[in-house]
This record gives sequence, C-alpha cells and structure tokens, in this order.
Amino acid sequence: MALLEPRVVGTPAERLDGHDKVTGAARYAFEHAVPDPTYLHPVLSSIARGKVTAVDAGDAQAVDGVVTILTVFDAPRLADTSDGELAILQDPEVHFRGQFLGAVVAESPEAARQAADLIRVEYEVRDHDTDFRADRSDFYAPETVNGGFPTDTRSGDVEAALTTAPRTVDQVYSTAMEHNNPMEPHTTIALWRPGGPGPVLTLHDSTQGVHSVRKTLAPVFGLEPEDIRVIAPHVGGGFGSKGLPHAHNVLVTLAAQKVPGRPVKFAVTRQQMFALSAYRAPTLQHIRLAADTDGHLTAVSHEVLTQSAKIKEFAEQAAVPTRMMYSSPARYTSHRLVALDVPAPSWMRAPGETPGMFAAEVAMDELAEVCGIDPIELRIRNEPATDPESGHPWSGRRLVDCLREGAERFGWADRDTKAGIRSGSDWSVGYGVAAATYPANTSPGSVARIRYEGDRYRVQIGSVDIGTGTWTALTQIAADALGCPLDAIDLEIGDSDLPSATVAGGSTGISSWGSAVVAAARAFRDTHGTTPHPGAEASAETPGNPDAEKFALHSFGAHFVEAHVHRDTCEIRVERMLGVFAIGRVVNARTVRSQLIGGMTMGVSMALHEESVGDPRFGHIVSHDLAGYHIAAHADIRYLDAVCLADVDEHANPIGSKGAGEIGIVGAAAAVANAVRSATGIRVRAVPIHLDDLL
Ligand code: MOS
Repeated sequence: MALLEPRVVGTPAERLDGHDKVTGAARYAFEHAVPDPTYLHPVLSSIARGKVTAVDAGDAQAVDGVVTILTVFDAPRLADTSDGELAILQDPEVHFRGQFLGAVVAESPEAARQAADLIRVEYEVRDHDTDFRADRSDFYAPETVNGGFPTDTRSGDVEAALTTAPRTVDQVYSTAMEHNNPMEPHTTIALWRPGGPGPVLTLHDSTQGVHSVRKTLAPVFGLEPEDIRVIAPHVGGGFGSKGLPHAHNVLVTLAAQKVPGRPVKFAVTRQQMFALSAYRAPTLQHIRLAADTDGHLTAVSHEVLTQSAKIKEFAEQAAVPTRMMYSSPARYTSHRLVALDVPAPSWMRAPGETPGMFAAEVAMDELAEVCGIDPIELRIRNEPATDPESGHPWSGRRLVDCLREGAERFGWADRDTKAGIRSGSDWSVGYGVAAATYPANTSPGSVARIRYEGDRYRVQIGSVDIGTGTWTALTQIAADALGCPLDAIDLEIGDSDLPSATVAGGSTGISSWGSAVVAAARAFRDTHGTTPHPGAEASAETPGNPDAEKFALHSFGAHFVEAHVHRDTCEIRVERMLGVFAIGRVVNARTVRSQLIGGMTMGVSMALHEESVGDPRFGHIVSHDLAGYHIAAHADIRYLDAVCLADVDEHANPIGSKGAGEIGIVGAAAAVANAVRSATGIRVRAVPIHLDDLL
C-alpha cells in the first residue's frame, strides 16, 4: 500500500475548532439560530407495557402559547414502520416505560413542558417483563451478533480439555446496564418545508453521521435521501448513542410536519435520555479456561447472556474478542439473548469488546493466580502466531510490546505484591494489569472532494467531529496529501450536502474519511499537477483494501492500575493508571491522547460507578440523572497517562493509522478489578464494584 508521507500528520497540532469551542462560537445542534422557532416537549409512557385507551389534552390545549399537540391517535403517518424503535405514534401500543406517546409544540420551551405535563393518558395495563436474570428459560440464539459476526464458534474439544487440565478457571462475570451520557444530550431542530425553497426536511442534529441519519430517515418519511439535509458542524460527544437516528428524530420530524415552515426545537432532557438514548445491555458471562501447569491455554469457553428488546433486536457481541485474543487448541464462544419490554440496547463505546474484555481479562488474571505465573508472562505465553479465527498473519500485533513497555514505565517488576493494609496507612495498595484490543476497520463509501481556489484548497467530506478532533486530523491529512501547509486547507464537514461519508463509529472515522481524502488528493495531483489552475477539482472514494482480506488488522494495548482501598470505608481510589497502545500511526498526538485517556476514564467509570439500576416491578430505570448515575471525572484518577508506541500499519490504510476512539476503554475495567484484587485479596467479578463487595 502506498503510504502517505507524514509531515504535519503526527504532530500534536492544536484543535482548529478549539477557540470557537471555548469561546462559545461553535454552534451545537440546539443552538443554531433559526427564524421563528417552536419548541417540543414529549409525553412519555408511565407504564412498561399495555395500550393507550384515551388521551385528554384539553387542559394542555388551553395553555398559552401551545401551537399543536400530537398523540398516538392523530400523529402523521410514517411511510415505513419496519424499525420497531423508530415507528412511534403509529398505534396505541406501549412497549416500554418512557416510550414516546405524544408531544406538545409551543412558542416557548416552558409552555411546551407545562402543557405536556397536563396531558392525561389512560391505559389498559398489561403485565410487563424487564427482569434480566440468568435463570430464565427464554434465552435464544440470534442469527448474528452486532457487527455481523457469527453467534457461536467452536473449535477443538473444549469439554475434554477442561476435564483433564491441571489448571482451570470456571467463573461467571457480570457487567451492568450502562447509559450513554455524552455532555450534549440528543438534540434536533427539524424544519419541514415540502414546497421549498430547499429540501423537504432540514435537521440540525447532534449525530455521529449526517449521511447515515439522512439515509435511515428518508424511507421512514417516504422521502428520497436528497429531500433531507442534515447539519452537524459540532457535536458534544456520542459514544455510539448518536451513531444512528433514534425515536427523538422521528418525533421532532412528525411535529415539524404539523407546523410546516416553522422550525421545531427538541432537546431530550438528561432524565429522558435514560429511556430514549442508546444504552449498553447488561451481560452475564460464563468463562471457563483450561491450562497446563505452565499456563498454556488448552481450552477457552466464553458464553454470554445479554438483554435485547422486543421492539428491536440488538446482540452485544461480548465473546467476539475471545475468538482472536489468545492461542488455544480448543475454543467455544456463544451469545444468547432475552427480549424484554425495554428500550432497544445499542452501541456504547466499543460494544462487545468492553464488557467481553472485562470478563476475559479478569479470568486471565485468575488463571495467572492459579498457575502461580505473573499475569504479563501468562499473556505472553499465550500469544497466537497467527489470528486463531481467520488463520491470517497479524498486521502489527504488538500486545507483548505494549505489556513490556507498560511494565517498564509503570514499575511493574518492583511492585509490592502482598495484599493488605500498608503499615502507617489506612489504605491497601494493589496493582493490576489487563490487555486491550480493538479491530482496525476502514468502512467503504466515503467520498472526498478537493477544489483549488487560488492558493487555498477546499476539502469537502460529509463526516462529523463528535469532539474527537476530526476537524484537525482531517486537515492534517489533507495538508500532507496535497503537500501544502496546514493553513492552506479549508475543511468542510458536518453537512449532508457535502459528499457522502460513513458514520463516526467503530473507530473507523479517520481511517475511512482520511483514506478518501488521500485518494482525492492523489487524483487531484494526477489530473492537475502541482500548479493547478483556480477552480481545479477532483474527488475520490475510500479505496477498497485488499490487505484487509489477507491480514488480521487489530489494535492492541495494555492497562496498568494502582488502586488504593480504604480499610474502614472500602472506598476505592485509582491512584495511578497507565495505558500503552499500538494503534498504527498517530495522526495527532494531542487529540489521540485525549481520546485514549477519555476511554480509560470511561473504563474506570465502568469499574467503579456506572450502573443503570432497573426496577422490574415498574419496568423503569431508577437512576436517571447524573446525581444517581455516577461518571468518573478528572479527580477520580490522580495520575493518568496514555502512551502510543511508535507504530505504522502498512496494511490498514494509506495513513498507516488504526483508530483511537474505542480501544482506551477496552480492558480498562478489568485492570481496575485486578488491582482491587491485588490490594484486598477479594476477587470481584461484577462491575461496577460496590464498596460492600469489599467488606
Ligand atoms: Mo462507537 S460505540 O462505534 O460510536
């Protein structure tokens, strides 16, 4: 593969959008100044299953400033109701608590909210079932799991190996339900204008993909994609929850159809997000490991139970990383779902890898213990020469380098391995390690367009920046691809009027869009040379990558944690955390480090705090704000750093990069749990770890 010659790629260039963001000039979806706006407040179901029998909107209608009201009985019709999550207000059925049953559109947000509160809904209540438990009899095997992976895999005789092995681990691990809480909630402004001017539907949306929103919503409203324009210049985080449009996009558009020509503004509240944004399904994972006395694995079995929704299937692919992570002659992985009366689970930062590698990397720590082998050495002994699943050679599997570099920097060899209170202190100190991995994918289908405007280049691609640094990184790639200074590039992103681009998800953004930019720059130079005439243009699509069929493309990493546990309160503090990663070429050292430490912090959050507590009696999530749902922040980790090995992946894409968005969280929670074990002698197999687990 012809690699890009890096010049500004690899430098820690400052965020080009940084000044606008800190001065408030950057416009997020809700903040766009639109003429004559209206405001939407939704009506949510207060039961988990049943049917709406009557809606009394009389008092709501009388509120000053109310423009229109939508209910399940009179909302505009959708053209396509095949997506159970998006097909809202088309019938009176209630599928989960918190489902949209209507909305008020008013001249002010206050009037909309007041009126929505006055709407009385009567129900025929039916029994609901939201109880995710291991002992249920109705788990089923989905056809595939998230990402299109096979549901089950089997090789070798796992049971025989488990029966005869001198060393085994056989445990159940669990991860909690978690809700995506980007700093900017899900917000949309919708303008419906069938007679023009402009598109039929314009959305200012907080999304990870303007083109994916357009493509998904077009059939729902019986439109062509070209009839919809989606605009998102700045997005305050997504973590997967904004990877696809959700029901709020449909609700605000239905409302906009009732007030054509007037924009409708809708910001989902933080509390409503616990029913209406995407969430990570809880998992129960049975892992069995068999090894010889030297710690060489002879069998690995990883069976996942997780939750889906009756309205829409989602299968968290938690056992998928176990298929490629370590060498073993026998291996079994499986996924089983139970469909409940709940909102549909969806993507949350590294779906699959995050819960799966928590369980698998704690299990490896347990195996190290039963074998009496250092946990780093155990992992090194089980390195596979080629990808166990595909048989392909690795493209830069550098797990051992990450473990060794991290051990050196962290002082692993010199750590105190005895559990318990340190003399002269109230704290037990422990150290944990865990591995990380994430696939390095490039999505097909993005197009970049370059135009020379007489000493400047306009670079256009309909990608988005969800806070990760796309504005800066793509500008760096364009500058190197065109051989010009950074400030000679005018990048345009965040608008579906720009050429098509894939979603900012699966850590594929920069790889996919950057490849299109490099291809377009090469096409530009081939056509116009180095002294182009003003107005010269070229465009190109992300090229296919034949190497992706020949090599196993994954990023790797290692987390190191020093945990302190208080002897009286059992409070857990992460004193030190270090991540070392091999993720191919680092496009921007500043934004990549920020992504990685952000992912690691989210992993600490998973280990110690994040937990959406359901109440099966009422079928709702009890912890539905940030006072009850805790998220780790700066102060929760005293010393935190992420280091990237000097690395270039020549088989991944022309940039040599592998993606940085998700790997930071993968394995991080396991490193914390392993450190807590080291500090206290107590093995906790369920996250988040509660203080009473350590009594
Ligand atoms: Mo990520 S969960 O693919 O946005």
